[in-house]
Amino acid sequence: MRLHALVLLFLLHSSVFASRPAKRYYNTHDYYVLEHDPTADASLDECARTLGVEVVEPAGELRNHWLVRAQKPPLSSREAGDRVLRTWNSIRAEARSSVSSRSEDAYLSRRVSSAVKYLSLQTLRRRVKRAPPPISPGTLIDAPTAKEVAAQQGIVDPEFTKQWHLVNDDFPQFMMNVTSLWEKGITGQGVITTIVDDGLDYNSDDLAANFFAEGSHDYNDHTDLPTPVLFDDHHGTRCAGQIAAVKNDVCGVGIAYESKVAGVRILSGQITDIDEAASLNYGYQNASIFSCSWGPPDDGRSMEAPGYLIKKAMVNGVENGRGGLGSVFVFASGNGGRSGDQCNFDGYTNSIFSITVAAIDYKGLHPDYSEACAANLVVASSSGSGNHITTTDVGKNKCAHTHGGTSAAAPNAAGVFALALSVRPDLNWRDMQHLCVRSAVQVNPDDPDWEMTAAGRPYSYKYGYGALSGVEYVNAALDWQSVKPQAWVNMPTIQIANGTMDIFHATDGGETLTQEGIYSSMEVTQSMLQSHNFEKLEHITVSVWITHDRRGDVEVELISPNGVKSVLAAKRNGDAANTGYPGWTFSTVKHWDEDPLGEWTIRVFDQGRENHSGKFLGWTMTLWGSVIDPALAKQYDVPVLQDTLPPLFGNDGDTSEPESTPVSTTSTQYAKPTEHLPGDHVQRLSTMSQSPRKQHLRGPPLARRPQHQRQMRAGSLICRTS
Ligand SMILES: *[C@@H]1O[C@H](CO)[C@@H](O)[C@H](O)[C@H]1NC(C)=O
Ligand SMILES: *[C@@H]1O[C@H](CO)[C@@H](O)[C@H](O)[C@H]1NC(C)=O
Ligand SMILES: *[C@@H]1O[C@H](CO)[C@@H](O)[C@H](O)[C@H]1NC(C)=O
Ligand SMILES: *[C@@H]1O[C@H](CO)[C@@H](O)[C@H](O)[C@H]1NC(C)=O
Repeated sequence: MRLHALVLLFLLHSSVFASRPAKRYYNTHDYYVLEHDPTADASLDECARTLGVEVVEPAGELRNHWLVRAQKPPLSSREAGDRVLRTWNSIRAEARSSVSSRSEDAYLSRRVSSAVKYLSLQTLRRRVKRAPPPISPGTLIDAPTAKEVAAQQGIVDPEFTKQWHLVNDDFPQFMMNVTSLWEKGITGQGVITTIVDDGLDYNSDDLAANFFAEGSHDYNDHTDLPTPVLFDDHHGTRCAGQIAAVKNDVCGVGIAYESKVAGVRILSGQITDIDEAASLNYGYQNASIFSCSWGPPDDGRSMEAPGYLIKKAMVNGVENGRGGLGSVFVFASGNGGRSGDQCNFDGYTNSIFSITVAAIDYKGLHPDYSEACAANLVVASSSGSGNHITTTDVGKNKCAHTHGGTSAAAPNAAGVFALALSVRPDLNWRDMQHLCVRSAVQVNPDDPDWEMTAAGRPYSYKYGYGALSGVEYVNAALDWQSVKPQAWVNMPTIQIANGTMDIFHATDGGETLTQEGIYSSMEVTQSMLQSHNFEKLEHITVSVWITHDRRGDVEVELISPNGVKSVLAAKRNGDAANTGYPGWTFSTVKHWDEDPLGEWTIRVFDQGRENHSGKFLGWTMTLWGSVIDPALAKQYDVPVLQDTLPPLFGNDGDTSEPESTPVSTTSTQYAKPTEHLPGDHVQRLSTMSQSPRKQHLRGPPLARRPQHQRQMRAGSLICRTS
């Protein structure tokens, strides 16, 4: 009888596991993430008991990762460091020092030590949003063409004619170009997009019918529904409206107005890394697209990447989400253009696993807030030249007229992706990127930022491959044959003048930077490609180890064997950090479809300023693309530690295959004229002080001391609203 009750209790408990995350009690408990090896000798329970923690639930969708917790110790005994981590460390020490001991304790330590592969304390971080965008003067458009579309398609949404991103009466060549798809019945049916943001007003008459409750959750208030609570919790609702506002008599319509949206609320309070990781995988078998209009601060001086668990969740999303076709992560490129910020200093936007979307305004111009970088794939409609995006607002029957920034560009792209997936649900996450590269429409061809890629496509740091157009994208999708699985080639790591960096970021060796720059090259050979089952190039990531007492002075460029240059880092006037680049990873999409054979050269230089200097210690590069033989495709594992030089485990955790072909490590200095980003970039940088600066409602300014600074930056994800 008793046993029966226990079993029942257990079943109840595990069914709770399967459905909803448990409420967190951060006041009374410390939470940890524990990775357990199920093939090891010690069970999860035994490990938990030994470490003095209780198992709460699986940690999001990360396989074999568990959220565990321990009661907070009394204040008086907190000085000696974290009790659980201390226990783990001593277990590991004991396991190492007693390899041959037969004692019960030593045996237990060895088993637990090998069963627990990862353990980290989860700290709460503050993700504060930006001030809402200022309302600029400017007439809203109310022109006949939009009225005609409304009449033809029976659209009675009262604000439809103001939605210039759907029908642009003044500049018809600059809009999302989707209304002709609606005529054909392509409206997003069957596709779910998750808005990871500050909530979603599922009670709005414009969203209720398209709301997907099962895929929604609130990680701030630990409830099932993502109810907007704070006075400024309107951002997620506005983004949701752009994608899936119902075609009815409320406000306007969404781009995929018969698709569904879920809301995962993370931006309205403190959350931990594991909850952020879980949010990016929430309901990821049902949702196809994760629309993310937030990131690290866009202040022109932050350099911040997602933590280990969050990176793991993104990789888990593309590998296992949507039945293995992969979650489509859409990220806003950032609003720091006016501060000289660049999306390659943001590890979410420069991740190869996300589609980075910058903004273009209703006149087809580049809004100065929209961040440029070699990770931008496309642009989509948003605010600028005095006009904003009209979309659903929080409230039963409310409309917002001041939405904008790259925050609004990303959901417009997500809406187009929803339309494409409704007719081609079989496309994988990389297909979605290929279609961006191929179908985007060049805008402002006279802009000096455009350069021809080796594959013969115009590319721009500001516009990526161009403006995303619904018609062009969906037509391309209808004909598209899926790409083969992903392959990658880890190039060897080059140490410049014996440069090294240890886990505490202490350095040795390296070569002092100059204005002319230090050049270093590595050769990609046919046999490397062959041995890595690598057929065709897509992304390139480049990791660099550089010290500098003024990080913003450093510039980094990559030059391909065909002479195509990717600017990875341009000067950032506001970035005075003295922490350099401890293995920071940049990415570029500018070499998509280029033949990678031959010599790749990196150039690292600074401004040659008196009293500001640094050293180039080393670099490495990874080529990403498609496999030759799908049968030999592998799954990518995120490495735990990436910032030492030479890397401890190769540069991507694929320990089996660090490229061993000897490579010349010579670096030479040439006297070459300093080349900067195209003229219009320079102009933007030099005019930035005159532009009105957006206000950060995010507490005290960054502290000078590096340790402090790191903490502050780590705790600041913000909404991308212009
Ligand atoms: C919209 O689609 C039409 C038809 O394909 C095309 O001619 C036009 O250039 C597109 N406009 C934009 C802004 O992409
Ligand atoms: C969500 O996905 C799961 C797993 O694939 C499936 O069993 C369930 O029916 C889906 N729910 C909805 C509402 O589509
Ligand atoms: C790097 O180390 C090697 C071996 O210790 C030494 O021969 C060489 O001179 C060093 N190079 C530089 C630039 O210090
Ligand atoms: C460089 O440092 C020296 C000594 O501290 C100082 O006298 C000089 O003014 C500095 N130069 C510049 C350009 O800041």
